Amino acid sequence: MLKTRMTEMFGVKHPIMLAGMNWITEPKLVAAVSNAGGLGILAVAQYHPKEMKDKIRQIKDMTDKPFGINQGLIMPGAKENIAVAIEEKVPIINYSLGKPWFVNDVHAYGGKVVGTIAIAKHAAKAVSLGCDALVITGNEAAAHGAQATSMVLIPLVASMVKVPLIAAGGFYDGRGLAAALALGADGISMGSRFMIVKECLVHDNFKRLCIEATEQDTLYSNVFDGMDGRILKTKESLAMTKRGFPAIEAFKGALLLKKLLNLSFLKFAGSALAMMKAEEGHPLMVLARQAVGSMKHLKAINEGDVEGGILFAGQCVGGIMDNPTTSELIGRLMVEAEATLDKMNTMKA
Ligand SMILES: Cc1cc2nc3c(=O)[nH]c(=O)nc-3n(C[C@H](O)[C@H](O)[C@H](O)COP(=O)(O)O)c2cc1C
Repeated sequence: MLKTRMTEMFGVKHPIMLAGMNWITEPKLVAAVSNAGGLGILAVAQYHPKEMKDKIRQIKDMTDKPFGINQGLIMPGAKENIAVAIEEKVPIINYSLGKPWFVNDVHAYGGKVVGTIAIAKHAAKAVSLGCDALVITGNEAAAHGAQATSMVLIPLVASMVKVPLIAAGGFYDGRGLAAALALGADGISMGSRFMIVKECLVHDNFKRLCIEATEQDTLYSNVFDGMDGRILKTKESLAMTKRGFPAIEAFKGALLLKKLLNLSFLKFAGSALAMMKAEEGHPLMVLARQAVGSMKHLKAINEGDVEGGILFAGQCVGGIMDNPTTSELIGRLMVEAEATLDKMNTMKA
């Protein structure tokens, strides 16, 4: 057993978090991680509020352990979804992109707010806004890491802020967990690794591609969803890096997102405008690319379309060799992490 500020703050057995992944971190996987002693996180940006409430209730039926939700605050429907999370007293609210307006409301019922950052100077800002802990995302990560790798970012942020830190980007085994602790983090968050477990709904075709991939088989570009991000190297993701702006696909994708989020045209246009005005500055081009990326992402995870689908994945796919159950994976990581820490202890002369 390891006791860290993360296990203490969130009341979990192990310092291991499931990273929020839209359309992937569904209730079955979230509950499996929480039941195995980790911290399950439900990504909710793709749900409309009623759907989100149903998913939260499903998790509560499957586990009595702590869990959280993850929402990008500049996404359409974010305000409504956060309101549902507060109404349902979700123990941990993890956000990215944007400023949290809800910290006091979450603290009022004893919940915790966890900000996600990828740039060191954003860490102090997030803490000043009331975050209880931070997820720090390194460049190795699937999706939206910035330029600095975990190796550089973790100690840098650890010397800047006092709140518990959860390291994301490149972690897939117990040696990585021990290394994150040594660098100043209090636990790890894993996306790519938890994508390849039995309880995860990602299509077997893409799980297989990830298992076969080496650490060199990812691409980092802003063409996939408008923001710099890392993705599995496939026929379609490679082609996207060479294509011009996909206007027709963008229109189709926007209609799909509007339908999925159950938004009226007026509301959808309003959200798009709000995103464009956001501090992070998301021009229309970014929204359009997000719409296209979402369509292709669904093709990968639901249909296993290896020709047309795309899937975010981190460099650590090179070290992922199997598709275990969640509980086997977490158990294995903890044994490896403790053995690594013991080994490091014997190195002291
Ligand atoms: C397939 C996939 C989908 C993801 N989708 C999202 C997402 O919707 N929103 C988000 O903030 N991060 C997303 N991420 C990033 C994770 O939250 C996390 O930061 C990342 O996976 C950590 O790095 P790792 O993959 O090396 O563990 C996704 C990651 C993967 C693998």
